[in-house]
Amino acid sequence: MSTLITNIGELVTNDPDADDLLGIVERAALVVEGKHVAWVGPATDAPAADQVVDAGGRAVLPGFVDSHSHLVFAGDRAAEFAARMAGEPYAAGGIRTTVAATRAATDEQLTAHVARLVQEMRRQGTTTVEIKSGYGLTVRDEARSLAVARQFTEETTYLGAHVVPEGDPDEYVALVTGPMLEAAAPHARWIDAFCETGAFDEDQSRAVLRAGMAAGLRPRLHANQLGPGPGARLAADLGLTAVDHCTYLTDDDVHALRDSGTIATLLPGVEFSTRQPYPDARRLLDAGVRVALASDCNPGSCFTSSMPLCIALAVREMGMTPAEAVHAATAVGAAALDRDDVGVLVPGRRADLVVLDAPTHVHLAYRPGVPLVAQTWVEGRPV
Ligand code: NIG
Ligand code: FE
Repeated sequence: MSTLITNIGELVTNDPDADDLLGIVERAALVVEGKHVAWVGPATDAPAADQVVDAGGRAVLPGFVDSHSHLVFAGDRAAEFAARMAGEPYAAGGIRTTVAATRAATDEQLTAHVARLVQEMRRQGTTTVEIKSGYGLTVRDEARSLAVARQFTEETTYLGAHVVPEGDPDEYVALVTGPMLEAAAPHARWIDAFCETGAFDEDQSRAVLRAGMAAGLRPRLHANQLGPGPGARLAADLGLTAVDHCTYLTDDDVHALRDSGTIATLLPGVEFSTRQPYPDARRLLDAGVRVALASDCNPGSCFTSSMPLCIALAVREMGMTPAEAVHAATAVGAAALDRDDVGVLVPGRRADLVVLDAPTHVHLAYRPGVPLVAQTWVEGRPV
């Protein structure tokens, strides 16, 4: 079964062989065959297909790849957010509030909650989402958090090293790298740690990531969110695919990320929701570091599921052009998950795409807060 989507005003392909960053084709068409893209090009050259969809001159983009979220949790922390907006600072310790609520929730409650958030993301154009554990912090609760996440995505991340829930930190790291890892690994593709004052230090973070790698998981890291620290350098030294947050970086950190090719995943919803300074994406891009954008959707530091909001913030507050921000939320997000089948609309890739109620990608930043996603297609079908 093939579908021709034609009369596309602007098609963003992210074709790496194109002359422009977004590989834009104007007055374009795209053919979907099964789950994949079979053809892209000017509408006038389009081949015939079993059915035809008229995009009405609207823009079509690769679906957003949200490479960082924490959707498995119960409860909310709206009161903590309100207190922050009245002047309280954000602190890592707030995570423990959500841990208590998550442990008390049933599997069914957690699953229903994730389903609702994934649905919310789909409506806003997200077609691939990474989901972390990290609000269970016992062997049982981390394993079941990941089992819940796995129902929704292959991109699951074991974050037992989110915060020390109670007791002795060294004993907790031994648990995270021992029995908890063993229970979590069958449900996870990635392992992560929160390398930050108030969470885990450099040695603890390295130990967690090394244990995960030995168990066959791919490492990634939360680092330099609340202040300068060793995390970004650690990520570069270990050659990680991506290091996330990167709000406070020294010049040495930036050079290390450039040299290692580690992607800096920036999460502007966090700075919006914590009133911290935004990370300087321009500085990173100008230094030759690859930048991805993700939501970090979680109940504490940032409860948005909206990649369009992240794009708008990155353009307005972080020095990115609209094209760079869209690329960061699609193709670079895919690279941050070591994925080459999504984030790009060229023949052979997955037909995961977004139809915007707008003529160009620029409208995602130009019309902030407006629900511009008209349709989201996952694996060749509108959802
Ligand atoms: O990515 N940084 C650590 N973890 C989350 C926040 C978790 C929370 O406050 O509940 C984050 O911002
Ligand atoms: Fe996070």
